[in-house]
Amino acid sequence: MCGIIGYTGSLDARDIILNGLEQLEYRGYDSAGITLRDGDKSFTKKKAGPVSILRKHCNTDEALGFNCGLGHTRWATHGGVSDVNSHPHIAGNVSLIHNGIIENYHSISKDYGFEDELISDTDSEVAARLINHFYNGDPYDAIKKAVAVIKGSYAFCIIFNDIPDKIFCVRQVSPLVATHADEGSFVASDVTAIISYTNRYFVVPEERIITLTAEGITICDFDGIPEEPDMLEVNWNVESAQKNGYPHYMLKEIHEQPDSLRSTIMPRLKKNIPDFTEDGISDEIFINCNKISIIACGTAMYAGMVGKYMMEPLLKIPVSVNIASEYRYENPILDENTLVIVISQSGETIDTLAALRLAKEYGAKTLSIVNVKGSTIARESDYVFYTHAGPEIAVASTKAYTVQLASLYLIGCRMALVRGKYTPAIAALFTAKLLESIPAINKILLNNSEIKDAAKHIMNATDVFFIGRGLDYAFSLEGSLKLKEISYIHAEAYAAGELKHGTIALIEENTPVVALATQDQIFSKTISNIREVKARGAFVILITKENAVVSDDVYDIHFTVPMKYDRFTVFPVAVIMQLLAYYTSDLKGHDVDKPRNLAKSVTVE
Ligand code: F6R
Repeated sequence: MCGIIGYTGSLDARDIILNGLEQLEYRGYDSAGITLRDGDKSFTKKKAGPVSILRKHCNTDEALGFNCGLGHTRWATHGGVSDVNSHPHIAGNVSLIHNGIIENYHSISKDYGFEDELISDTDSEVAARLINHFYNGDPYDAIKKAVAVIKGSYAFCIIFNDIPDKIFCVRQVSPLVATHADEGSFVASDVTAIISYTNRYFVVPEERIITLTAEGITICDFDGIPEEPDMLEVNWNVESAQKNGYPHYMLKEIHEQPDSLRSTIMPRLKKNIPDFTEDGISDEIFINCNKISIIACGTAMYAGMVGKYMMEPLLKIPVSVNIASEYRYENPILDENTLVIVISQSGETIDTLAALRLAKEYGAKTLSIVNVKGSTIARESDYVFYTHAGPEIAVASTKAYTVQLASLYLIGCRMALVRGKYTPAIAALFTAKLLESIPAINKILLNNSEIKDAAKHIMNATDVFFIGRGLDYAFSLEGSLKLKEISYIHAEAYAAGELKHGTIALIEENTPVVALATQDQIFSKTISNIREVKARGAFVILITKENAVVSDDVYDIHFTVPMKYDRFTVFPVAVIMQLLAYYTSDLKGHDVDKPRNLAKSVTVE
């Protein structure tokens, strides 16, 4: 949430910062701002709206000739979307950009007498004023004193007026990475903003102050003791973070799924059997547990739902799926025999992180499934299983979902093997079926024009229902989330057998119902439920396996998935539902990649 970038070096800071902001815009796109410094000279602009508006306002000679600066793209928390609430916030000697939430900003502004001085409604301005209040020429002292007062999460980047060529940064929870390259020193919310300069970076450690100069970066703790950074390397390049000819990131990422799945699955197969030795994941956590709790938010949680439906019958132990934001408040039942699997694409989602910390307090073993290398959730879990999807830029998650599923399937298979439920031969058969998902997805991607046509039947609807039973129900949860978040059409997923207990009252003539019937065991029951909605006028978009026999009076549109095995149909089914959501949103003229009110990486509670 909120994208931040700082640069000091030999090049013109304006373009570096604006380009970086464009890369970071998926983190928040309500408003954007920039401040540039060169000796006594400065340029600051803050504008509501996307970075493109800010860019227009920076298209002036006045913004040229600076070597140091900060940029921010905002997802509003405190205070509405306006120029004045945009960052940077300037207070006396201090220019500051902030990602996070300051919980005690009211009491700070009261205790330090800022109430009459504030010009914005933001918590961030209070931080700028507090640092300025403590500043007497020593930036470290001012920052140290300010963060001792501040409660909440933050990543701050600060320029002091009398030190215009240096950037000082400090963070607590909110993400921040930094790097030095030939062009100078960079700090940013995530690597997408700096990948065009170098693929080496470090995660800014918490409770440290880092100082960026044109020549390099220093890190020191609050006692001034210097430290060396732990360098990391990203294994993707700048092209991975660009659209590469696709009209939207979302469409590009949907098409990347075969590659992402291959990269996630293949390195974990030894003689076709899942093996996590190179991930450093010990089998002990799989053997010595009597319960699995999966914790996540949104799409990641819906991947967890599929994991539950897949693992429980396989392992014969209870698997619960928990909404991370609820978990902390429901006195969870877990102990050292519980395996907690935390799923997060970004590895930053604060609700998920808080739940992970709680699980660790209870003594549970924690394994995270994370896409972003070095992210907080990855670093704080006992074990991490990285998905190799590359950067996911579109706010609506697509490729991260399918690689999370593949990870859960590999983990489920490994667990079945080490717990004696599977022989090596059956485990190898399982992974062979999992790999069949890749050509199945490719086939859907090649024939997507019919899905676009189906979107025309949805685009003017006010409500869309997704129904299915068993695993199909778990798949439909993600289908409905995808549609509602980018098309703004109300969509709900229901267990098909549950409809008649109330929800069927909402079915009217032409109400679209996306019906999933890919599970043999409950196929005929699901078809009966579909008949129930069809009889009430629903417009049914049916998804079945290729060999399913269905009479044509059950549906209006029929998609089939080229997958023989029930457990694995989710992969092509997910792609159909992603494309349906994508085309519906695009036909409605929405900004597919940046749906309203949302942002990638939810780092506020
Ligand atoms: C929906 C979506 C969100 C995320 C959720 C968790 O398309 O992207 O629902 O899945 O915010 O994010 P991560 O996986 O980064 O923890």
